[in-house]
Amino acid sequence: MASVLEIKDLHVSIEDKEILKGVNLTIKQGEIHAIMGPNGTGKSTLSSAIMGHPKYIVTQGEVLLDGENVLEMEVDERAQAGLFLAMQYPSEISGVTNADFLRSAINSRREEGQEINLMQFIKKLDKQMEFLEMDLDMAQRYLNEGFSGGEKKRNEILQLMMLEPKFAILDEIDSGLDIDALKVVSKGINQMRGENFGCLIITHYQRLLNYITPDYVHVMMQGRVVKSGGEELAQRLEAEGYDWIKQELNIEDETVNAE
Ligand SMILES: Nc1ncnc2c1ncn2[C@@H]1O[C@H](COP(=O)(O)OP(=O)(O)OP(=O)(O)O)[C@@H](O)[C@H]1O
Ligand SMILES: [Mg+2]
Repeated sequence: MASVLEIKDLHVSIEDKEILKGVNLTIKQGEIHAIMGPNGTGKSTLSSAIMGHPKYIVTQGEVLLDGENVLEMEVDERAQAGLFLAMQYPSEISGVTNADFLRSAINSRREEGQEINLMQFIKKLDKQMEFLEMDLDMAQRYLNEGFSGGEKKRNEILQLMMLEPKFAILDEIDSGLDIDALKVVSKGINQMRGENFGCLIITHYQRLLNYITPDYVHVMMQGRVVKSGGEELAQRLEAEGYDWIKQELNIEDETVNAE
């Protein structure tokens, strides 16, 4: 049966400031959802809160993976349960090679005794790196250290393809990519697409959605999902910006001190 990720009335605060004010979103395996929205409206906060970043305090609501409350899980348990996050700003880890990182990430998601053997791992890694048109030397470099912006994003997709999570949240996976890299990253996501994979893509540009057709598009504003639709919603946002939604929904522009 297809897994379901349900975000219900999620409220999240950072240092006592409420950023998410009741987010509702349901993603089923097999579906690709896109979230768009102005800067600072809480899109990255949503992904960090789901993955359990300690700075983001959930004050209300729940996140359920097949009915189990993700918010009660430890951070590593969330990954083991099948969640994956590609961060807007991927971290660099000095002293750990990309290949070692991937292998331990795969094994940490498996039962003891079921670890991937080295030959299987290398074969899979080579295959996916070739698919993503990556230089095989990148496997032996320290994780993300000195990687260009675009190389980091491509590397996030490599992790995605190696780990094969149930659900992925991809935060601005298209930012800083040249046109060829955008195509490669999209190719990777489309390769993952299928009945065992659900995805939430956070993006500012309709451009990415030319390559990956989303099943649903959502608009986030001021900490809530304020509008949902299909692909055509992204096209309208690209053409007209966000003002029409604010007018339609009577949303005031937030000033810095407004509450
Ligand atoms: N660690 C933090 N400390 C303080 N404020 C934070 C922190 N993280 C996020 N915020 C604030 O929360 C709000 C939402 O930020 P968030 O990163 O979720 O926005 P976003 O929608 O992802 O924006 P963008 O499109 O620019 O990436 C912003 O006002 C931001 O300054
Ligand atoms: Mg963000």
